[in-house]
Amino acid sequence: MSSIMVINAKGGSGKTTISTNLAAYYAVNSFNVTLVDLDPQASSLNWLSSRPITKAKIKGLSSLPNKTSSKVNDITIIDVPAAIYGARLETYIKKARKIIIPVLPSPIDMSAARDFLKSIRNLGSVVRNRTDICLVANRCRANTNIFEELDDYLVNERGIRYVSAFRDNTNYINAAKKGIGIFEMGQSMTAQDREEWKPLISWLKTKRK
Ligand SMILES: Nc1ncnc2c1ncn2[C@@H]1O[C@H](COP(=O)(O)OP(=O)(O)OP(=O)(O)O)[C@@H](O)[C@H]1O
Ligand SMILES: [Mg+2]
Repeated sequence: MSSIMVINAKGGSGKTTISTNLAAYYAVNSFNVTLVDLDPQASSLNWLSSRPITKAKIKGLSSLPNKTSSKVNDITIIDVPAAIYGARLETYIKKARKIIIPVLPSPIDMSAARDFLKSIRNLGSVVRNRTDICLVANRCRANTNIFEELDDYLVNERGIRYVSAFRDNTNYINAAKKGIGIFEMGQSMTAQDREEWKPLISWLKTKRK
């Protein structure tokens, strides 16, 4: 099917959390999921190694596969480490059809995200024409106006979608510990989180015209 990359030059924005939860989501929905962890910290692969064998299977890799499968039911999720720029950024981004950039709701993180988006745009038309990019606000507390600013300055003008905001919640921490995703936890406990994921999941389904 497709390859989804979760990337942001800023550390700690939720790349691994989103990668692992997405991997679990697709695995639960009967996709053949490959989770590629390019980070030497190997947080995604560690998550995978603590995954109960009773849960839907996910394949782990520590480097990019030579060829991404084009089968409808196959999906590759790529967790990229922080601080990737230049030639490496270009190499990585070319491997992805969909890019998710998680951003924390703080002025420092938003400013760093703005710079990161600039470096992606500077990669030129090859990347722009074949890759869809979205932003996800992560670890949001209550309603913050800061994301309206993010929407205005980064997103609307430049054709990058700001698709959803995920709350700051212990469900993510508990899921991470157990090698599972929020979609594998109790429905009522995770109802709000599941709702927040819906816009991202439907954005991932959209095809280019
Ligand atoms: N929505 C959330 N609610 C609560 N905790 C969260 C949420 N998202 C991430 N976290 C926690 O924040 C920390 C950083 O998240 P994560 O490891 O996913 O970020 P990262 O971008 O992969 O970091 P790095 O740049 O180090 O790879 C982790 O402890 C994670 O459990
Ligand atoms: Mg990480």
